[in-house]
Amino acid sequence: MPQHVQGVIAPGRNEPVRVETIVIPDPGPGEAVVKIQACGVCHTDLHYKQGAINDEFPFLLGHEAAGIVESVGEGVTDVEPGDFVILNWRAVCGQCRACLRGRPWYCFDTHNAKQRMTLLDGTELSPALGIGAFAEKTLVASGQCTKVDPAVAPEVAGLLGCGVMAGIGAAINTGNVGRGDTVAVIGCGGVGDAAIVGSRLAGAAKIIAVDIDDRKLETARTMGATHTVNSRSTDPVEAVRELTGGFGADVVIEAVGRPETYRQAFYARDLAGTVVLVGVPTPEMKLELPLLDVFGRGGALKSSWYGDCLPSRDFPMLVDLHQQGRIDLAAFVTETIGLGDVEKAFGRMHEGDVLRSVVVF
Ligand code: APR
Ligand code: ZN
Ligand code: ZN
Repeated sequence: MPQHVQGVIAPGRNEPVRVETIVIPDPGPGEAVVKIQACGVCHTDLHYKQGAINDEFPFLLGHEAAGIVESVGEGVTDVEPGDFVILNWRAVCGQCRACLRGRPWYCFDTHNAKQRMTLLDGTELSPALGIGAFAEKTLVASGQCTKVDPAVAPEVAGLLGCGVMAGIGAAINTGNVGRGDTVAVIGCGGVGDAAIVGSRLAGAAKIIAVDIDDRKLETARTMGATHTVNSRSTDPVEAVRELTGGFGADVVIEAVGRPETYRQAFYARDLAGTVVLVGVPTPEMKLELPLLDVFGRGGALKSSWYGDCLPSRDFPMLVDLHQQGRIDLAAFVTETIGLGDVEKAFGRMHEGDVLRSVVVF
């Protein structure tokens, strides 16, 4: 029997989001219905609402979530009702060219639920990133459910489903930060702070936080930054070089997504160092760099897609490290809110007041 639950939809471009009744079909083959316990508010949800991702309104927002599997469809063996899971947007296919070459974290053909959730009048909803978890329940592909230790708080676990994983993964997976490395992180919001946490976890010797907002730099310190640079008042390239013996950092993580900060990352890096772009640019942005500098400075210029994470490998590991007190993911939860507060949370996000607002059920 299809179920009726409450969920937050974005009805149209730049229209306020609102709570509506959502119809959840029974899970079909390869699908699961998950009872959501917590779901973080991410920039991507705001981008959906603004029509910046695509035009397939109405969207069922929310994609940074944890909950309990309620029911599974035919042929599902990886999870069962009662499992505590984090939802991921990288349910790997096992058969695309990336998966076949043993690089499933790049999977080019990830799974989502085949059936659509709808409004009461039958209007089909587009779930954000194939998840749609600002809702009491949601329908996903079973591969989107990653089992983790149920002892962790859901509002903390859910954050690994997107932003925090993107940042930690930018450091440990894409940037391959190692013991003794110097790292600079440009942009210290939720993603940049997570990159700082990841860098510390990996054993970085020096972690330089760069931001234009002193409040963000203060938080960055509590996350593990050893040095901070306000790039509104100080040239960040010069500052990073000064702090690294005149050379630049081994790894620079760009967590803003703008040409000028990418350029800073490019030049704040030591010879043969690595730049990781985890901030997401907009379509009109362009980058110009002397090609001789690209050649002459060597190293690697990489993008980090969702922290190049493999959910089945990374989510349980990071939950365990959090439970052991070796990383503090709870520090990313600024406030918990109700389902009706998402519009307000977008406002706070815009003001830069929060790392994460998390809807709890
Ligand atoms: N130089 C340095 N820092 C900057 C600059 C700049 N020119 N412009 C903005 N910032 C800082 C902000 O002060 C803020 O601390 O970047 C940070 C951005 O943080 P958030 O807005 O909280 O965004 P976050 O969730 O961390 O995501 C960052 O990653 O996944 C992508 O789409 C996401 O592009 C976004 C980026
Ligand atoms: Zn694949
Ligand atoms: Zn997200």
